[in-house]
Amino acid sequence: MQSIKNNIIYVTFITIIATLGGLLFGYDTAVISGAIGFVRDYFDLSPAMMGWVASSALVGCIAGCAAAGYLSDRFGRKKVLILSAILFAVTGVGCAIARNTSGLVIYRIIGGLGVGIASMMSPIYIAEIAPSKMRGRLVSYNQFAIITGMIAVYLVNYLIAARGNESWNLQSGWRWMFGSETIPALLFLGSLIFIPESPRWLAKNDKVEKARQILLKIGGPEFAEKELKEISETEISESQSFRALFNSKFRIVLIIGIVLAILQQVTGINVFMYYAPEIFKKLGSGTNAALLQTIILGFFNMGFTVVAIMTVDRFGRKPLMMIGSLGMGICLLVLGLMAYYQQSALWVLGFILGYISCFALSVGPVTWVIISEIYPTRIRGRALSIATVFLWTANWIVSQTFPMMDENPWLIEKFHHGFSFWIYGLMCFILLIFVWRKVPETKGKSLEEIEKLWLR
Ligand code: BGC
Repeated sequence: MQSIKNNIIYVTFITIIATLGGLLFGYDTAVISGAIGFVRDYFDLSPAMMGWVASSALVGCIAGCAAAGYLSDRFGRKKVLILSAILFAVTGVGCAIARNTSGLVIYRIIGGLGVGIASMMSPIYIAEIAPSKMRGRLVSYNQFAIITGMIAVYLVNYLIAARGNESWNLQSGWRWMFGSETIPALLFLGSLIFIPESPRWLAKNDKVEKARQILLKIGGPEFAEKELKEISETEISESQSFRALFNSKFRIVLIIGIVLAILQQVTGINVFMYYAPEIFKKLGSGTNAALLQTIILGFFNMGFTVVAIMTVDRFGRKPLMMIGSLGMGICLLVLGLMAYYQQSALWVLGFILGYISCFALSVGPVTWVIISEIYPTRIRGRALSIATVFLWTANWIVSQTFPMMDENPWLIEKFHHGFSFWIYGLMCFILLIFVWRKVPETKGKSLEEIEKLWLR
């Protein structure tokens, strides 16, 4: 009994360290929200340049996850996590001391590389160390960490801005905002020393003895032998080459991962994450109220992620995804109608919170759980990296096109700002049907059992 408890404490401990990658993912993507206004005035940026300073990080994200798959299959999961921590520290210092916009953009891209890497590496690593019955819960910790990072940086930005007057903020405040990222980055880097390499990666790379030692600490002798046996059995049935990725047997799982990644984004979450204050202002709130409402939104996101953490291994992935996407779709339909009939602000806030809660309960964490566990180990790194590249690209397209749709005079005249909500709502129903028809339930199965599903 005591030893099972120790095992659980150990897995939870290393999971928490790995989720610091998620925390920095949230921190780095949200830090810009507080800094961008001052950066614009300091460097006297045109709207196009302002957009580039903000979105350049995304270019880094896409490149980061594209490279991380190969690097992690080749050099191991832990080394690549260390690389991301270094990139986070470099971006923090670099952006803080940038002399001109080119410097700032280069350091934003470096940070983006870190985000891209961490966005896929933390979930993969956690999925590979976690015993199957706690895997969904542990991978969902990462989503919790992403939101914690976002809320933390909103508060840090707020506190920094409150320290000085407008002219201090213009000269130095934004530099402190960017620079503040160095602290969690160094903490992440330092704590990575304490985590082991992924036992699955070790076993697949002929380091079975090392893998056994780690599995013993994670789940005891019986667990270690069972896992090693399963890992070695699946090894026989796999090809080692990159071509395995395009093996017809795995094509379907590759496509499922990609479609899920895209649908997570085109259901519109980051429209609310990135533009919430603007949406609230358009609906009649003042600046302070809009910022406050955004913080409330962050806490709802966090609270319902906890519900997902507690239920994902009990209820399963599919029920959560289906209930969540249904709820999101309904909320978006109603939001579209309210925008169309130009209804009052308080009601609108209620449905936005409903939408965010449904996302946090399901599509937010569970998409990451599924895409980090459905691939065979040998291709997991590269396959997840492909899916994540699609995720970030879809994210970029949604965040670029939302303002274009929302400001389009013809659409405004016809739909009164309801159009984009309906498009995202439609995507929620497509997601619902896709999960129902195409995604297998992976609750409680070992990664090797999941792998066999595709070979059958
Ligand atoms: C998504 C991010 C999003 C975050 C918000 C994650 O699951 O991948 O794009 O910003 O959730 O909570």
